Amino acid sequence: MSDAAEQIFATLKQSSQSGAPLYLQLRKSIEDAVNRGLIGPGDALPSERDIASKADISRVTVRKAVQDLVKGGILVQRHGSGTFVAPRMERVEQSLSLLTSFTEDMARRGMAVRSTWLDRGLYAPSPDEMMVLGLSSNELVARVARLRIANDTPLAIERASLSASVLPDPDGIGSSLYAALQLIGNRPVRAVQRISAANLGESDARLLEVPSGSAGLHIERISYLASGKVIEFTRSIYRGDAYDFVAELRLTGPGDEGRS
Ligand code: GLP
Repeated sequence: MSDAAEQIFATLKQSSQSGAPLYLQLRKSIEDAVNRGLIGPGDALPSERDIASKADISRVTVRKAVQDLVKGGILVQRHGSGTFVAPRMERVEQSLSLLTSFTEDMARRGMAVRSTWLDRGLYAPSPDEMMVLGLSSNELVARVARLRIANDTPLAIERASLSASVLPDPDGIGSSLYAALQLIGNRPVRAVQRISAANLGESDARLLEVPSGSAGLHIERISYLASGKVIEFTRSIYRGDAYDFVAELRLTGPGDEGRS
């Protein structure tokens, strides 16, 4: 058994006199081991059976402590491979004044980007899509929904809608939507982005590998061609623990008041 596992049990033995329920004592021992760096991000926790037999407690008790720590985001469980200390997120600082793509943003930071497809296809537009994209009810909308992953950490869920006349084959966009739009001369040149706080629902949280209810950022981007035509309507959910959006502010000079 690893030193870290030994340490968990040593702390557990020390606290066994405290009278607190066993699963709380075990939870605290594991949490302490993580906080003191005895087990680090990505390290595997000993199996439920090993912990139970070594600490001489039932597996139900171990499971309860571990589940609590998974809910709290301290541990993560990967089906089939076990329980691990949650990876610590390196926060991404994102400028709010540049109209860049996810692929470009991550590549600039030297991060490896990939996406998992959640949906792509042509659909009848929703009322929102009709309004923002200026579509009539007999036109189609192209939807591209992806889980965006950088350095193997899922960072965002992005659901983009574009007119089917611009993107008749959403299957063919490759790894970057903006690169695909650039190729057909339709890369946006301006965008309005709205950011609001959101608590992640069960299914979004599962995709982003964070506990349900975690803080997230809901981001809506409407982007335009030079002609003023709306080209993209994207709704995204970003992990709140992964992103800092940064805006540069300037004092307006005399006579500039009221300008935005
Ligand atoms: C950002 C924006 C999205 C945009 C996407 C394109 O993440 N929030 O609105 O659709 O970039 O990224 P890519 O070209 O990598 O597909």
